[in-house]
This record gives sequence, C-alpha cells and structure tokens, in this order.
Amino acid sequence: MSFVEKPPLSIEPPDDIPVYFATLIAGLELIVADEVEQRLPAAQVLGALRGKLVFASPEPPGAALELGTIEHLFAWAGQIEALPTSREGLEVIERELEALDLGPALSLFHRLHGEPEQPGFRITAQRAGNHEYNSVEIAAAAGAGVNRRYGWAVDLTQYDYDVRVYVTDDSALVGLRLSEEALHRRARVRHAAASLNPTVAHAMCRLAAHALGRASAERATPAGRPSGPDGPPHLAEEASAFPAAVVGQVFVDPMCGAGTILIERASLGEVGLLVGGELHEQPLAAARENLAAASLSRPAGRENLAAACGSPAASAEGPADPGLSAALVRWDARRLPLRRGSVDAVACNLPWGRRVGSHRANRHLYPGFMRELGRVLRPGGVAVLLTQEKRLIARLMAKSRKLTLVEQYPLSLSGMYPTIYVLTRTAD
Ligand SMILES: C[S@@+](CC[C@H](N)C(=O)[O-])C[C@H]1O[C@@H](n2cnc3c(N)ncnc32)[C@H](O)[C@@H]1O
Repeated sequence: MSFVEKPPLSIEPPDDIPVYFATLIAGLELIVADEVEQRLPAAQVLGALRGKLVFASPEPPGAALELGTIEHLFAWAGQIEALPTSREGLEVIERELEALDLGPALSLFHRLHGEPEQPGFRITAQRAGNHEYNSVEIAAAAGAGVNRRYGWAVDLTQYDYDVRVYVTDDSALVGLRLSEEALHRRARVRHAAASLNPTVAHAMCRLAAHALGRASAERATPAGRPSGPDGPPHLAEEASAFPAAVVGQVFVDPMCGAGTILIERASLGEVGLLVGGELHEQPLAAARENLAAASLSRPAGRENLAAACGSPAASAEGPADPGLSAALVRWDARRLPLRRGSVDAVACNLPWGRRVGSHRANRHLYPGFMRELGRVLRPGGVAVLLTQEKRLIARLMAKSRKLTLVEQYPLSLSGMYPTIYVLTRTAD
C-alpha cells in the first residue's frame, strides 16, 4: 500500500492526544513524516494524503510549528465522507459543520494564540475533483453551519479563526489553522531568480543527512548483511545516525542562488563547513545578505574553505565573506575549485531551463556539473539535486560510473513538476 492515501483517510484519531494536519509541498509526504517522527518523538503519524500529513502529538502545539518541511499547521477537526458531488453536497457541508465539535481544535488554538473575547472567523475552502459547486459556495455553506453552532461573526479580513475545508472528490477534511502565516516565510530576506521554497530546501538537507547516515551505517555493517533485523532501516529509525554522520561534514551548494539551501542546512546544526558557489554576482549578493540575516555569523570564509577543500581561495573570484559561517564563492559549477573527494554532501537546485537558464544551456551545464560531482564527492558522499530536466538526468545517470541514483521524489511545486534526486558517490 502506498504511503499516500486517497481521501478519506482510514484513521481513528485518538481521543486523548491532540491531532494535527500539516499542508506541505506535494511529494514531500514521506520526508515530512520522518521529520515529525524525529523532532516530535512522542508523535504518531496517522496517515497522509497528497500534500497533507495527519499526526497526533502530545507535545505542546508550538513544537509542531517548528517543523522545517511544512507549509501550514492545522488542528484536525474532522472529515466528511460520502459527500455528494451534486448541489446536495452544500447542504451536507452546512449540516456537518454545524454538528462538528471544534472544541479540541479551539483549545490548541487558544494555547498558542490566547482566546479572543468576541471571535470573528472565516472559512477558507479548496476543492479538487468534479463538483456541481465551487469553493466560494463551499465556504458559504460551511460558514453558515459554523455560525449557527457558535454564533461567531464572519470577518474575512480581521478574523481570529481560519477554518479550512479541503474538499477532494467525495470527502472533505476540516481543520483550524494554527500557523499565522505560511511557515516557508522565514530567514530569506532577498529573493534571487527562482529562489527555492525553504521547506523543499529543508527536505533536501534532511535527505542528504539521511543518505550519509545510511552510507556510514552500511560501511559499519559487514557486506551482505542487512543493517537492521528486518532490512534497511526506515528513515526515522536512522535518527541516531544523524549527529554522527554530520560532524565535521563539508556541505556544498554549487549553484546556491540566494542561499536558501545553505540557510536550511545550517538550521539542522552540526556541520563542519558550509560552502555556497554561484556563477553570478547578483544572486551571490542576495545570498550574503540572507546568510547574514539568518545569523550565520561565525567567522569562516575562504580560510576554512581552503583548509577543508584544498586551496580554492586563489582561484575563486569575488570578495571573501569573513563574517559568515558559510563560505560564499563565485565559481562555475563545471570547474569547482575543490579537491578530489573533499566533499561529504552536495544539495543543489539546478537551473531547470525555465525561469533560470535554458534547456540548451543545460545540455552543456549538466554534464560538466555531474562530472565535477563525481570528482569532488568522497566515496560514500551524497548529492541531493532538484530539477525538472528529467530526461537529461536520466541520460547522465545511465552513463555515470561514479554516481548511483538511490531515491527520487517527484514534486508538484508552484505549477511545475521537478524531482528531487538522491545520488551517492560509488567507491573508487
Ligand atoms: C535555480 S537557481 C538556485 C536557486 C537557489 N536554490 C535559491 O533558493 O535561491 C540556479 C542558480 O544556478 C546559478 N548557475 C547557473 N549556472 C551556473 C554555473 N555554471 N555555475 C554556478 N552557478 C550557476 C544561477 O545563477 C542560479 O542562481
């Protein structure tokens, strides 16, 4: 059975533990589940829909707001099943919302934000599938139900409570929004072209850490034996390998743009050296500003880079960044000024040939870049790449003797369909 289900979810939310659902970039469900299990150790993942994860957690609600891979956090309020897709569905929504006890969801909201004296509310509805009604009508029907039960005033702009209704085919998921604004709005202060959503960057950094943990666990296990009693461990079970894998790690984003991936990697902690490289000065300037705003301000710069990776300072263009804990260097990712085998992990959002670069330019960029990856990664090192150039990657992977594709995560991201590729550097 696939991890992501079709709605409605076949779950029994526990009565005594608060239940949440998070919205996320579709395709990241497994990675978000892993983060939930690792960062909220008492949490229980109950199920996943495309772009949503439901979990129960006894920890204070603020802890779930710290998750790096989610877009919004909601208190779970309930599901509607067997919802008619005809106009009759609107009456069902109104009735069900009137009957729905929002009490547990409200108490989570109040723990986080306090209890408003005269609450105003709004309904936000989203719809997928074929229905004889639209999302505005869903919101109106749900609003009428909530208003009858609780008597709150509807206020579309100065609301206290945002009740969400996600209708998919013949079911609906209902929740109360706990996150004040989208959780991807963090750290970055200046955008560059095609700046990456930080939740995706965070997921890529987690994948890199896991792949490194897995590689070092495999090295520590005699060949041919599975690494656990039942075979390779689930992502979450490798949590203990995480700190060991990243101590002293050299982590590089060779096309760092505004520095989003570096900032997210820093937020995971325990990294020996963060290096960002960029061909163009404008995004590099944005990266400098963004790293400073994210308080990555212990001295590093070129000296560390030279010590860890050889002596790139001499060949790197652009000013050193003595105030940043990430070394930022102007370079061409097809000719990295880094020593052979000097890098543990690479995470990189490549140009997709749409908003940045072109398909034609990518046919030159990608082969040179992949060759450099094979050279600078140490055996057992890891690269996590994001791109929509699927055929180009498939062709290059088929030819590469130094890189092995171990995992792929196809995403749906702002109307585009890129894939996260997890690669490992094979032994020489
Ligand atoms: C998709 S963007 C990366 C966005 C970045 N992850 C962010 O969040 O801002 C790709 C970046 O690769 C850079 N780039 C293109 N060709 C390059 C090359 N040969 N060497 C280094 N950087 C390059 C572009 O200038 C662009 O900033």
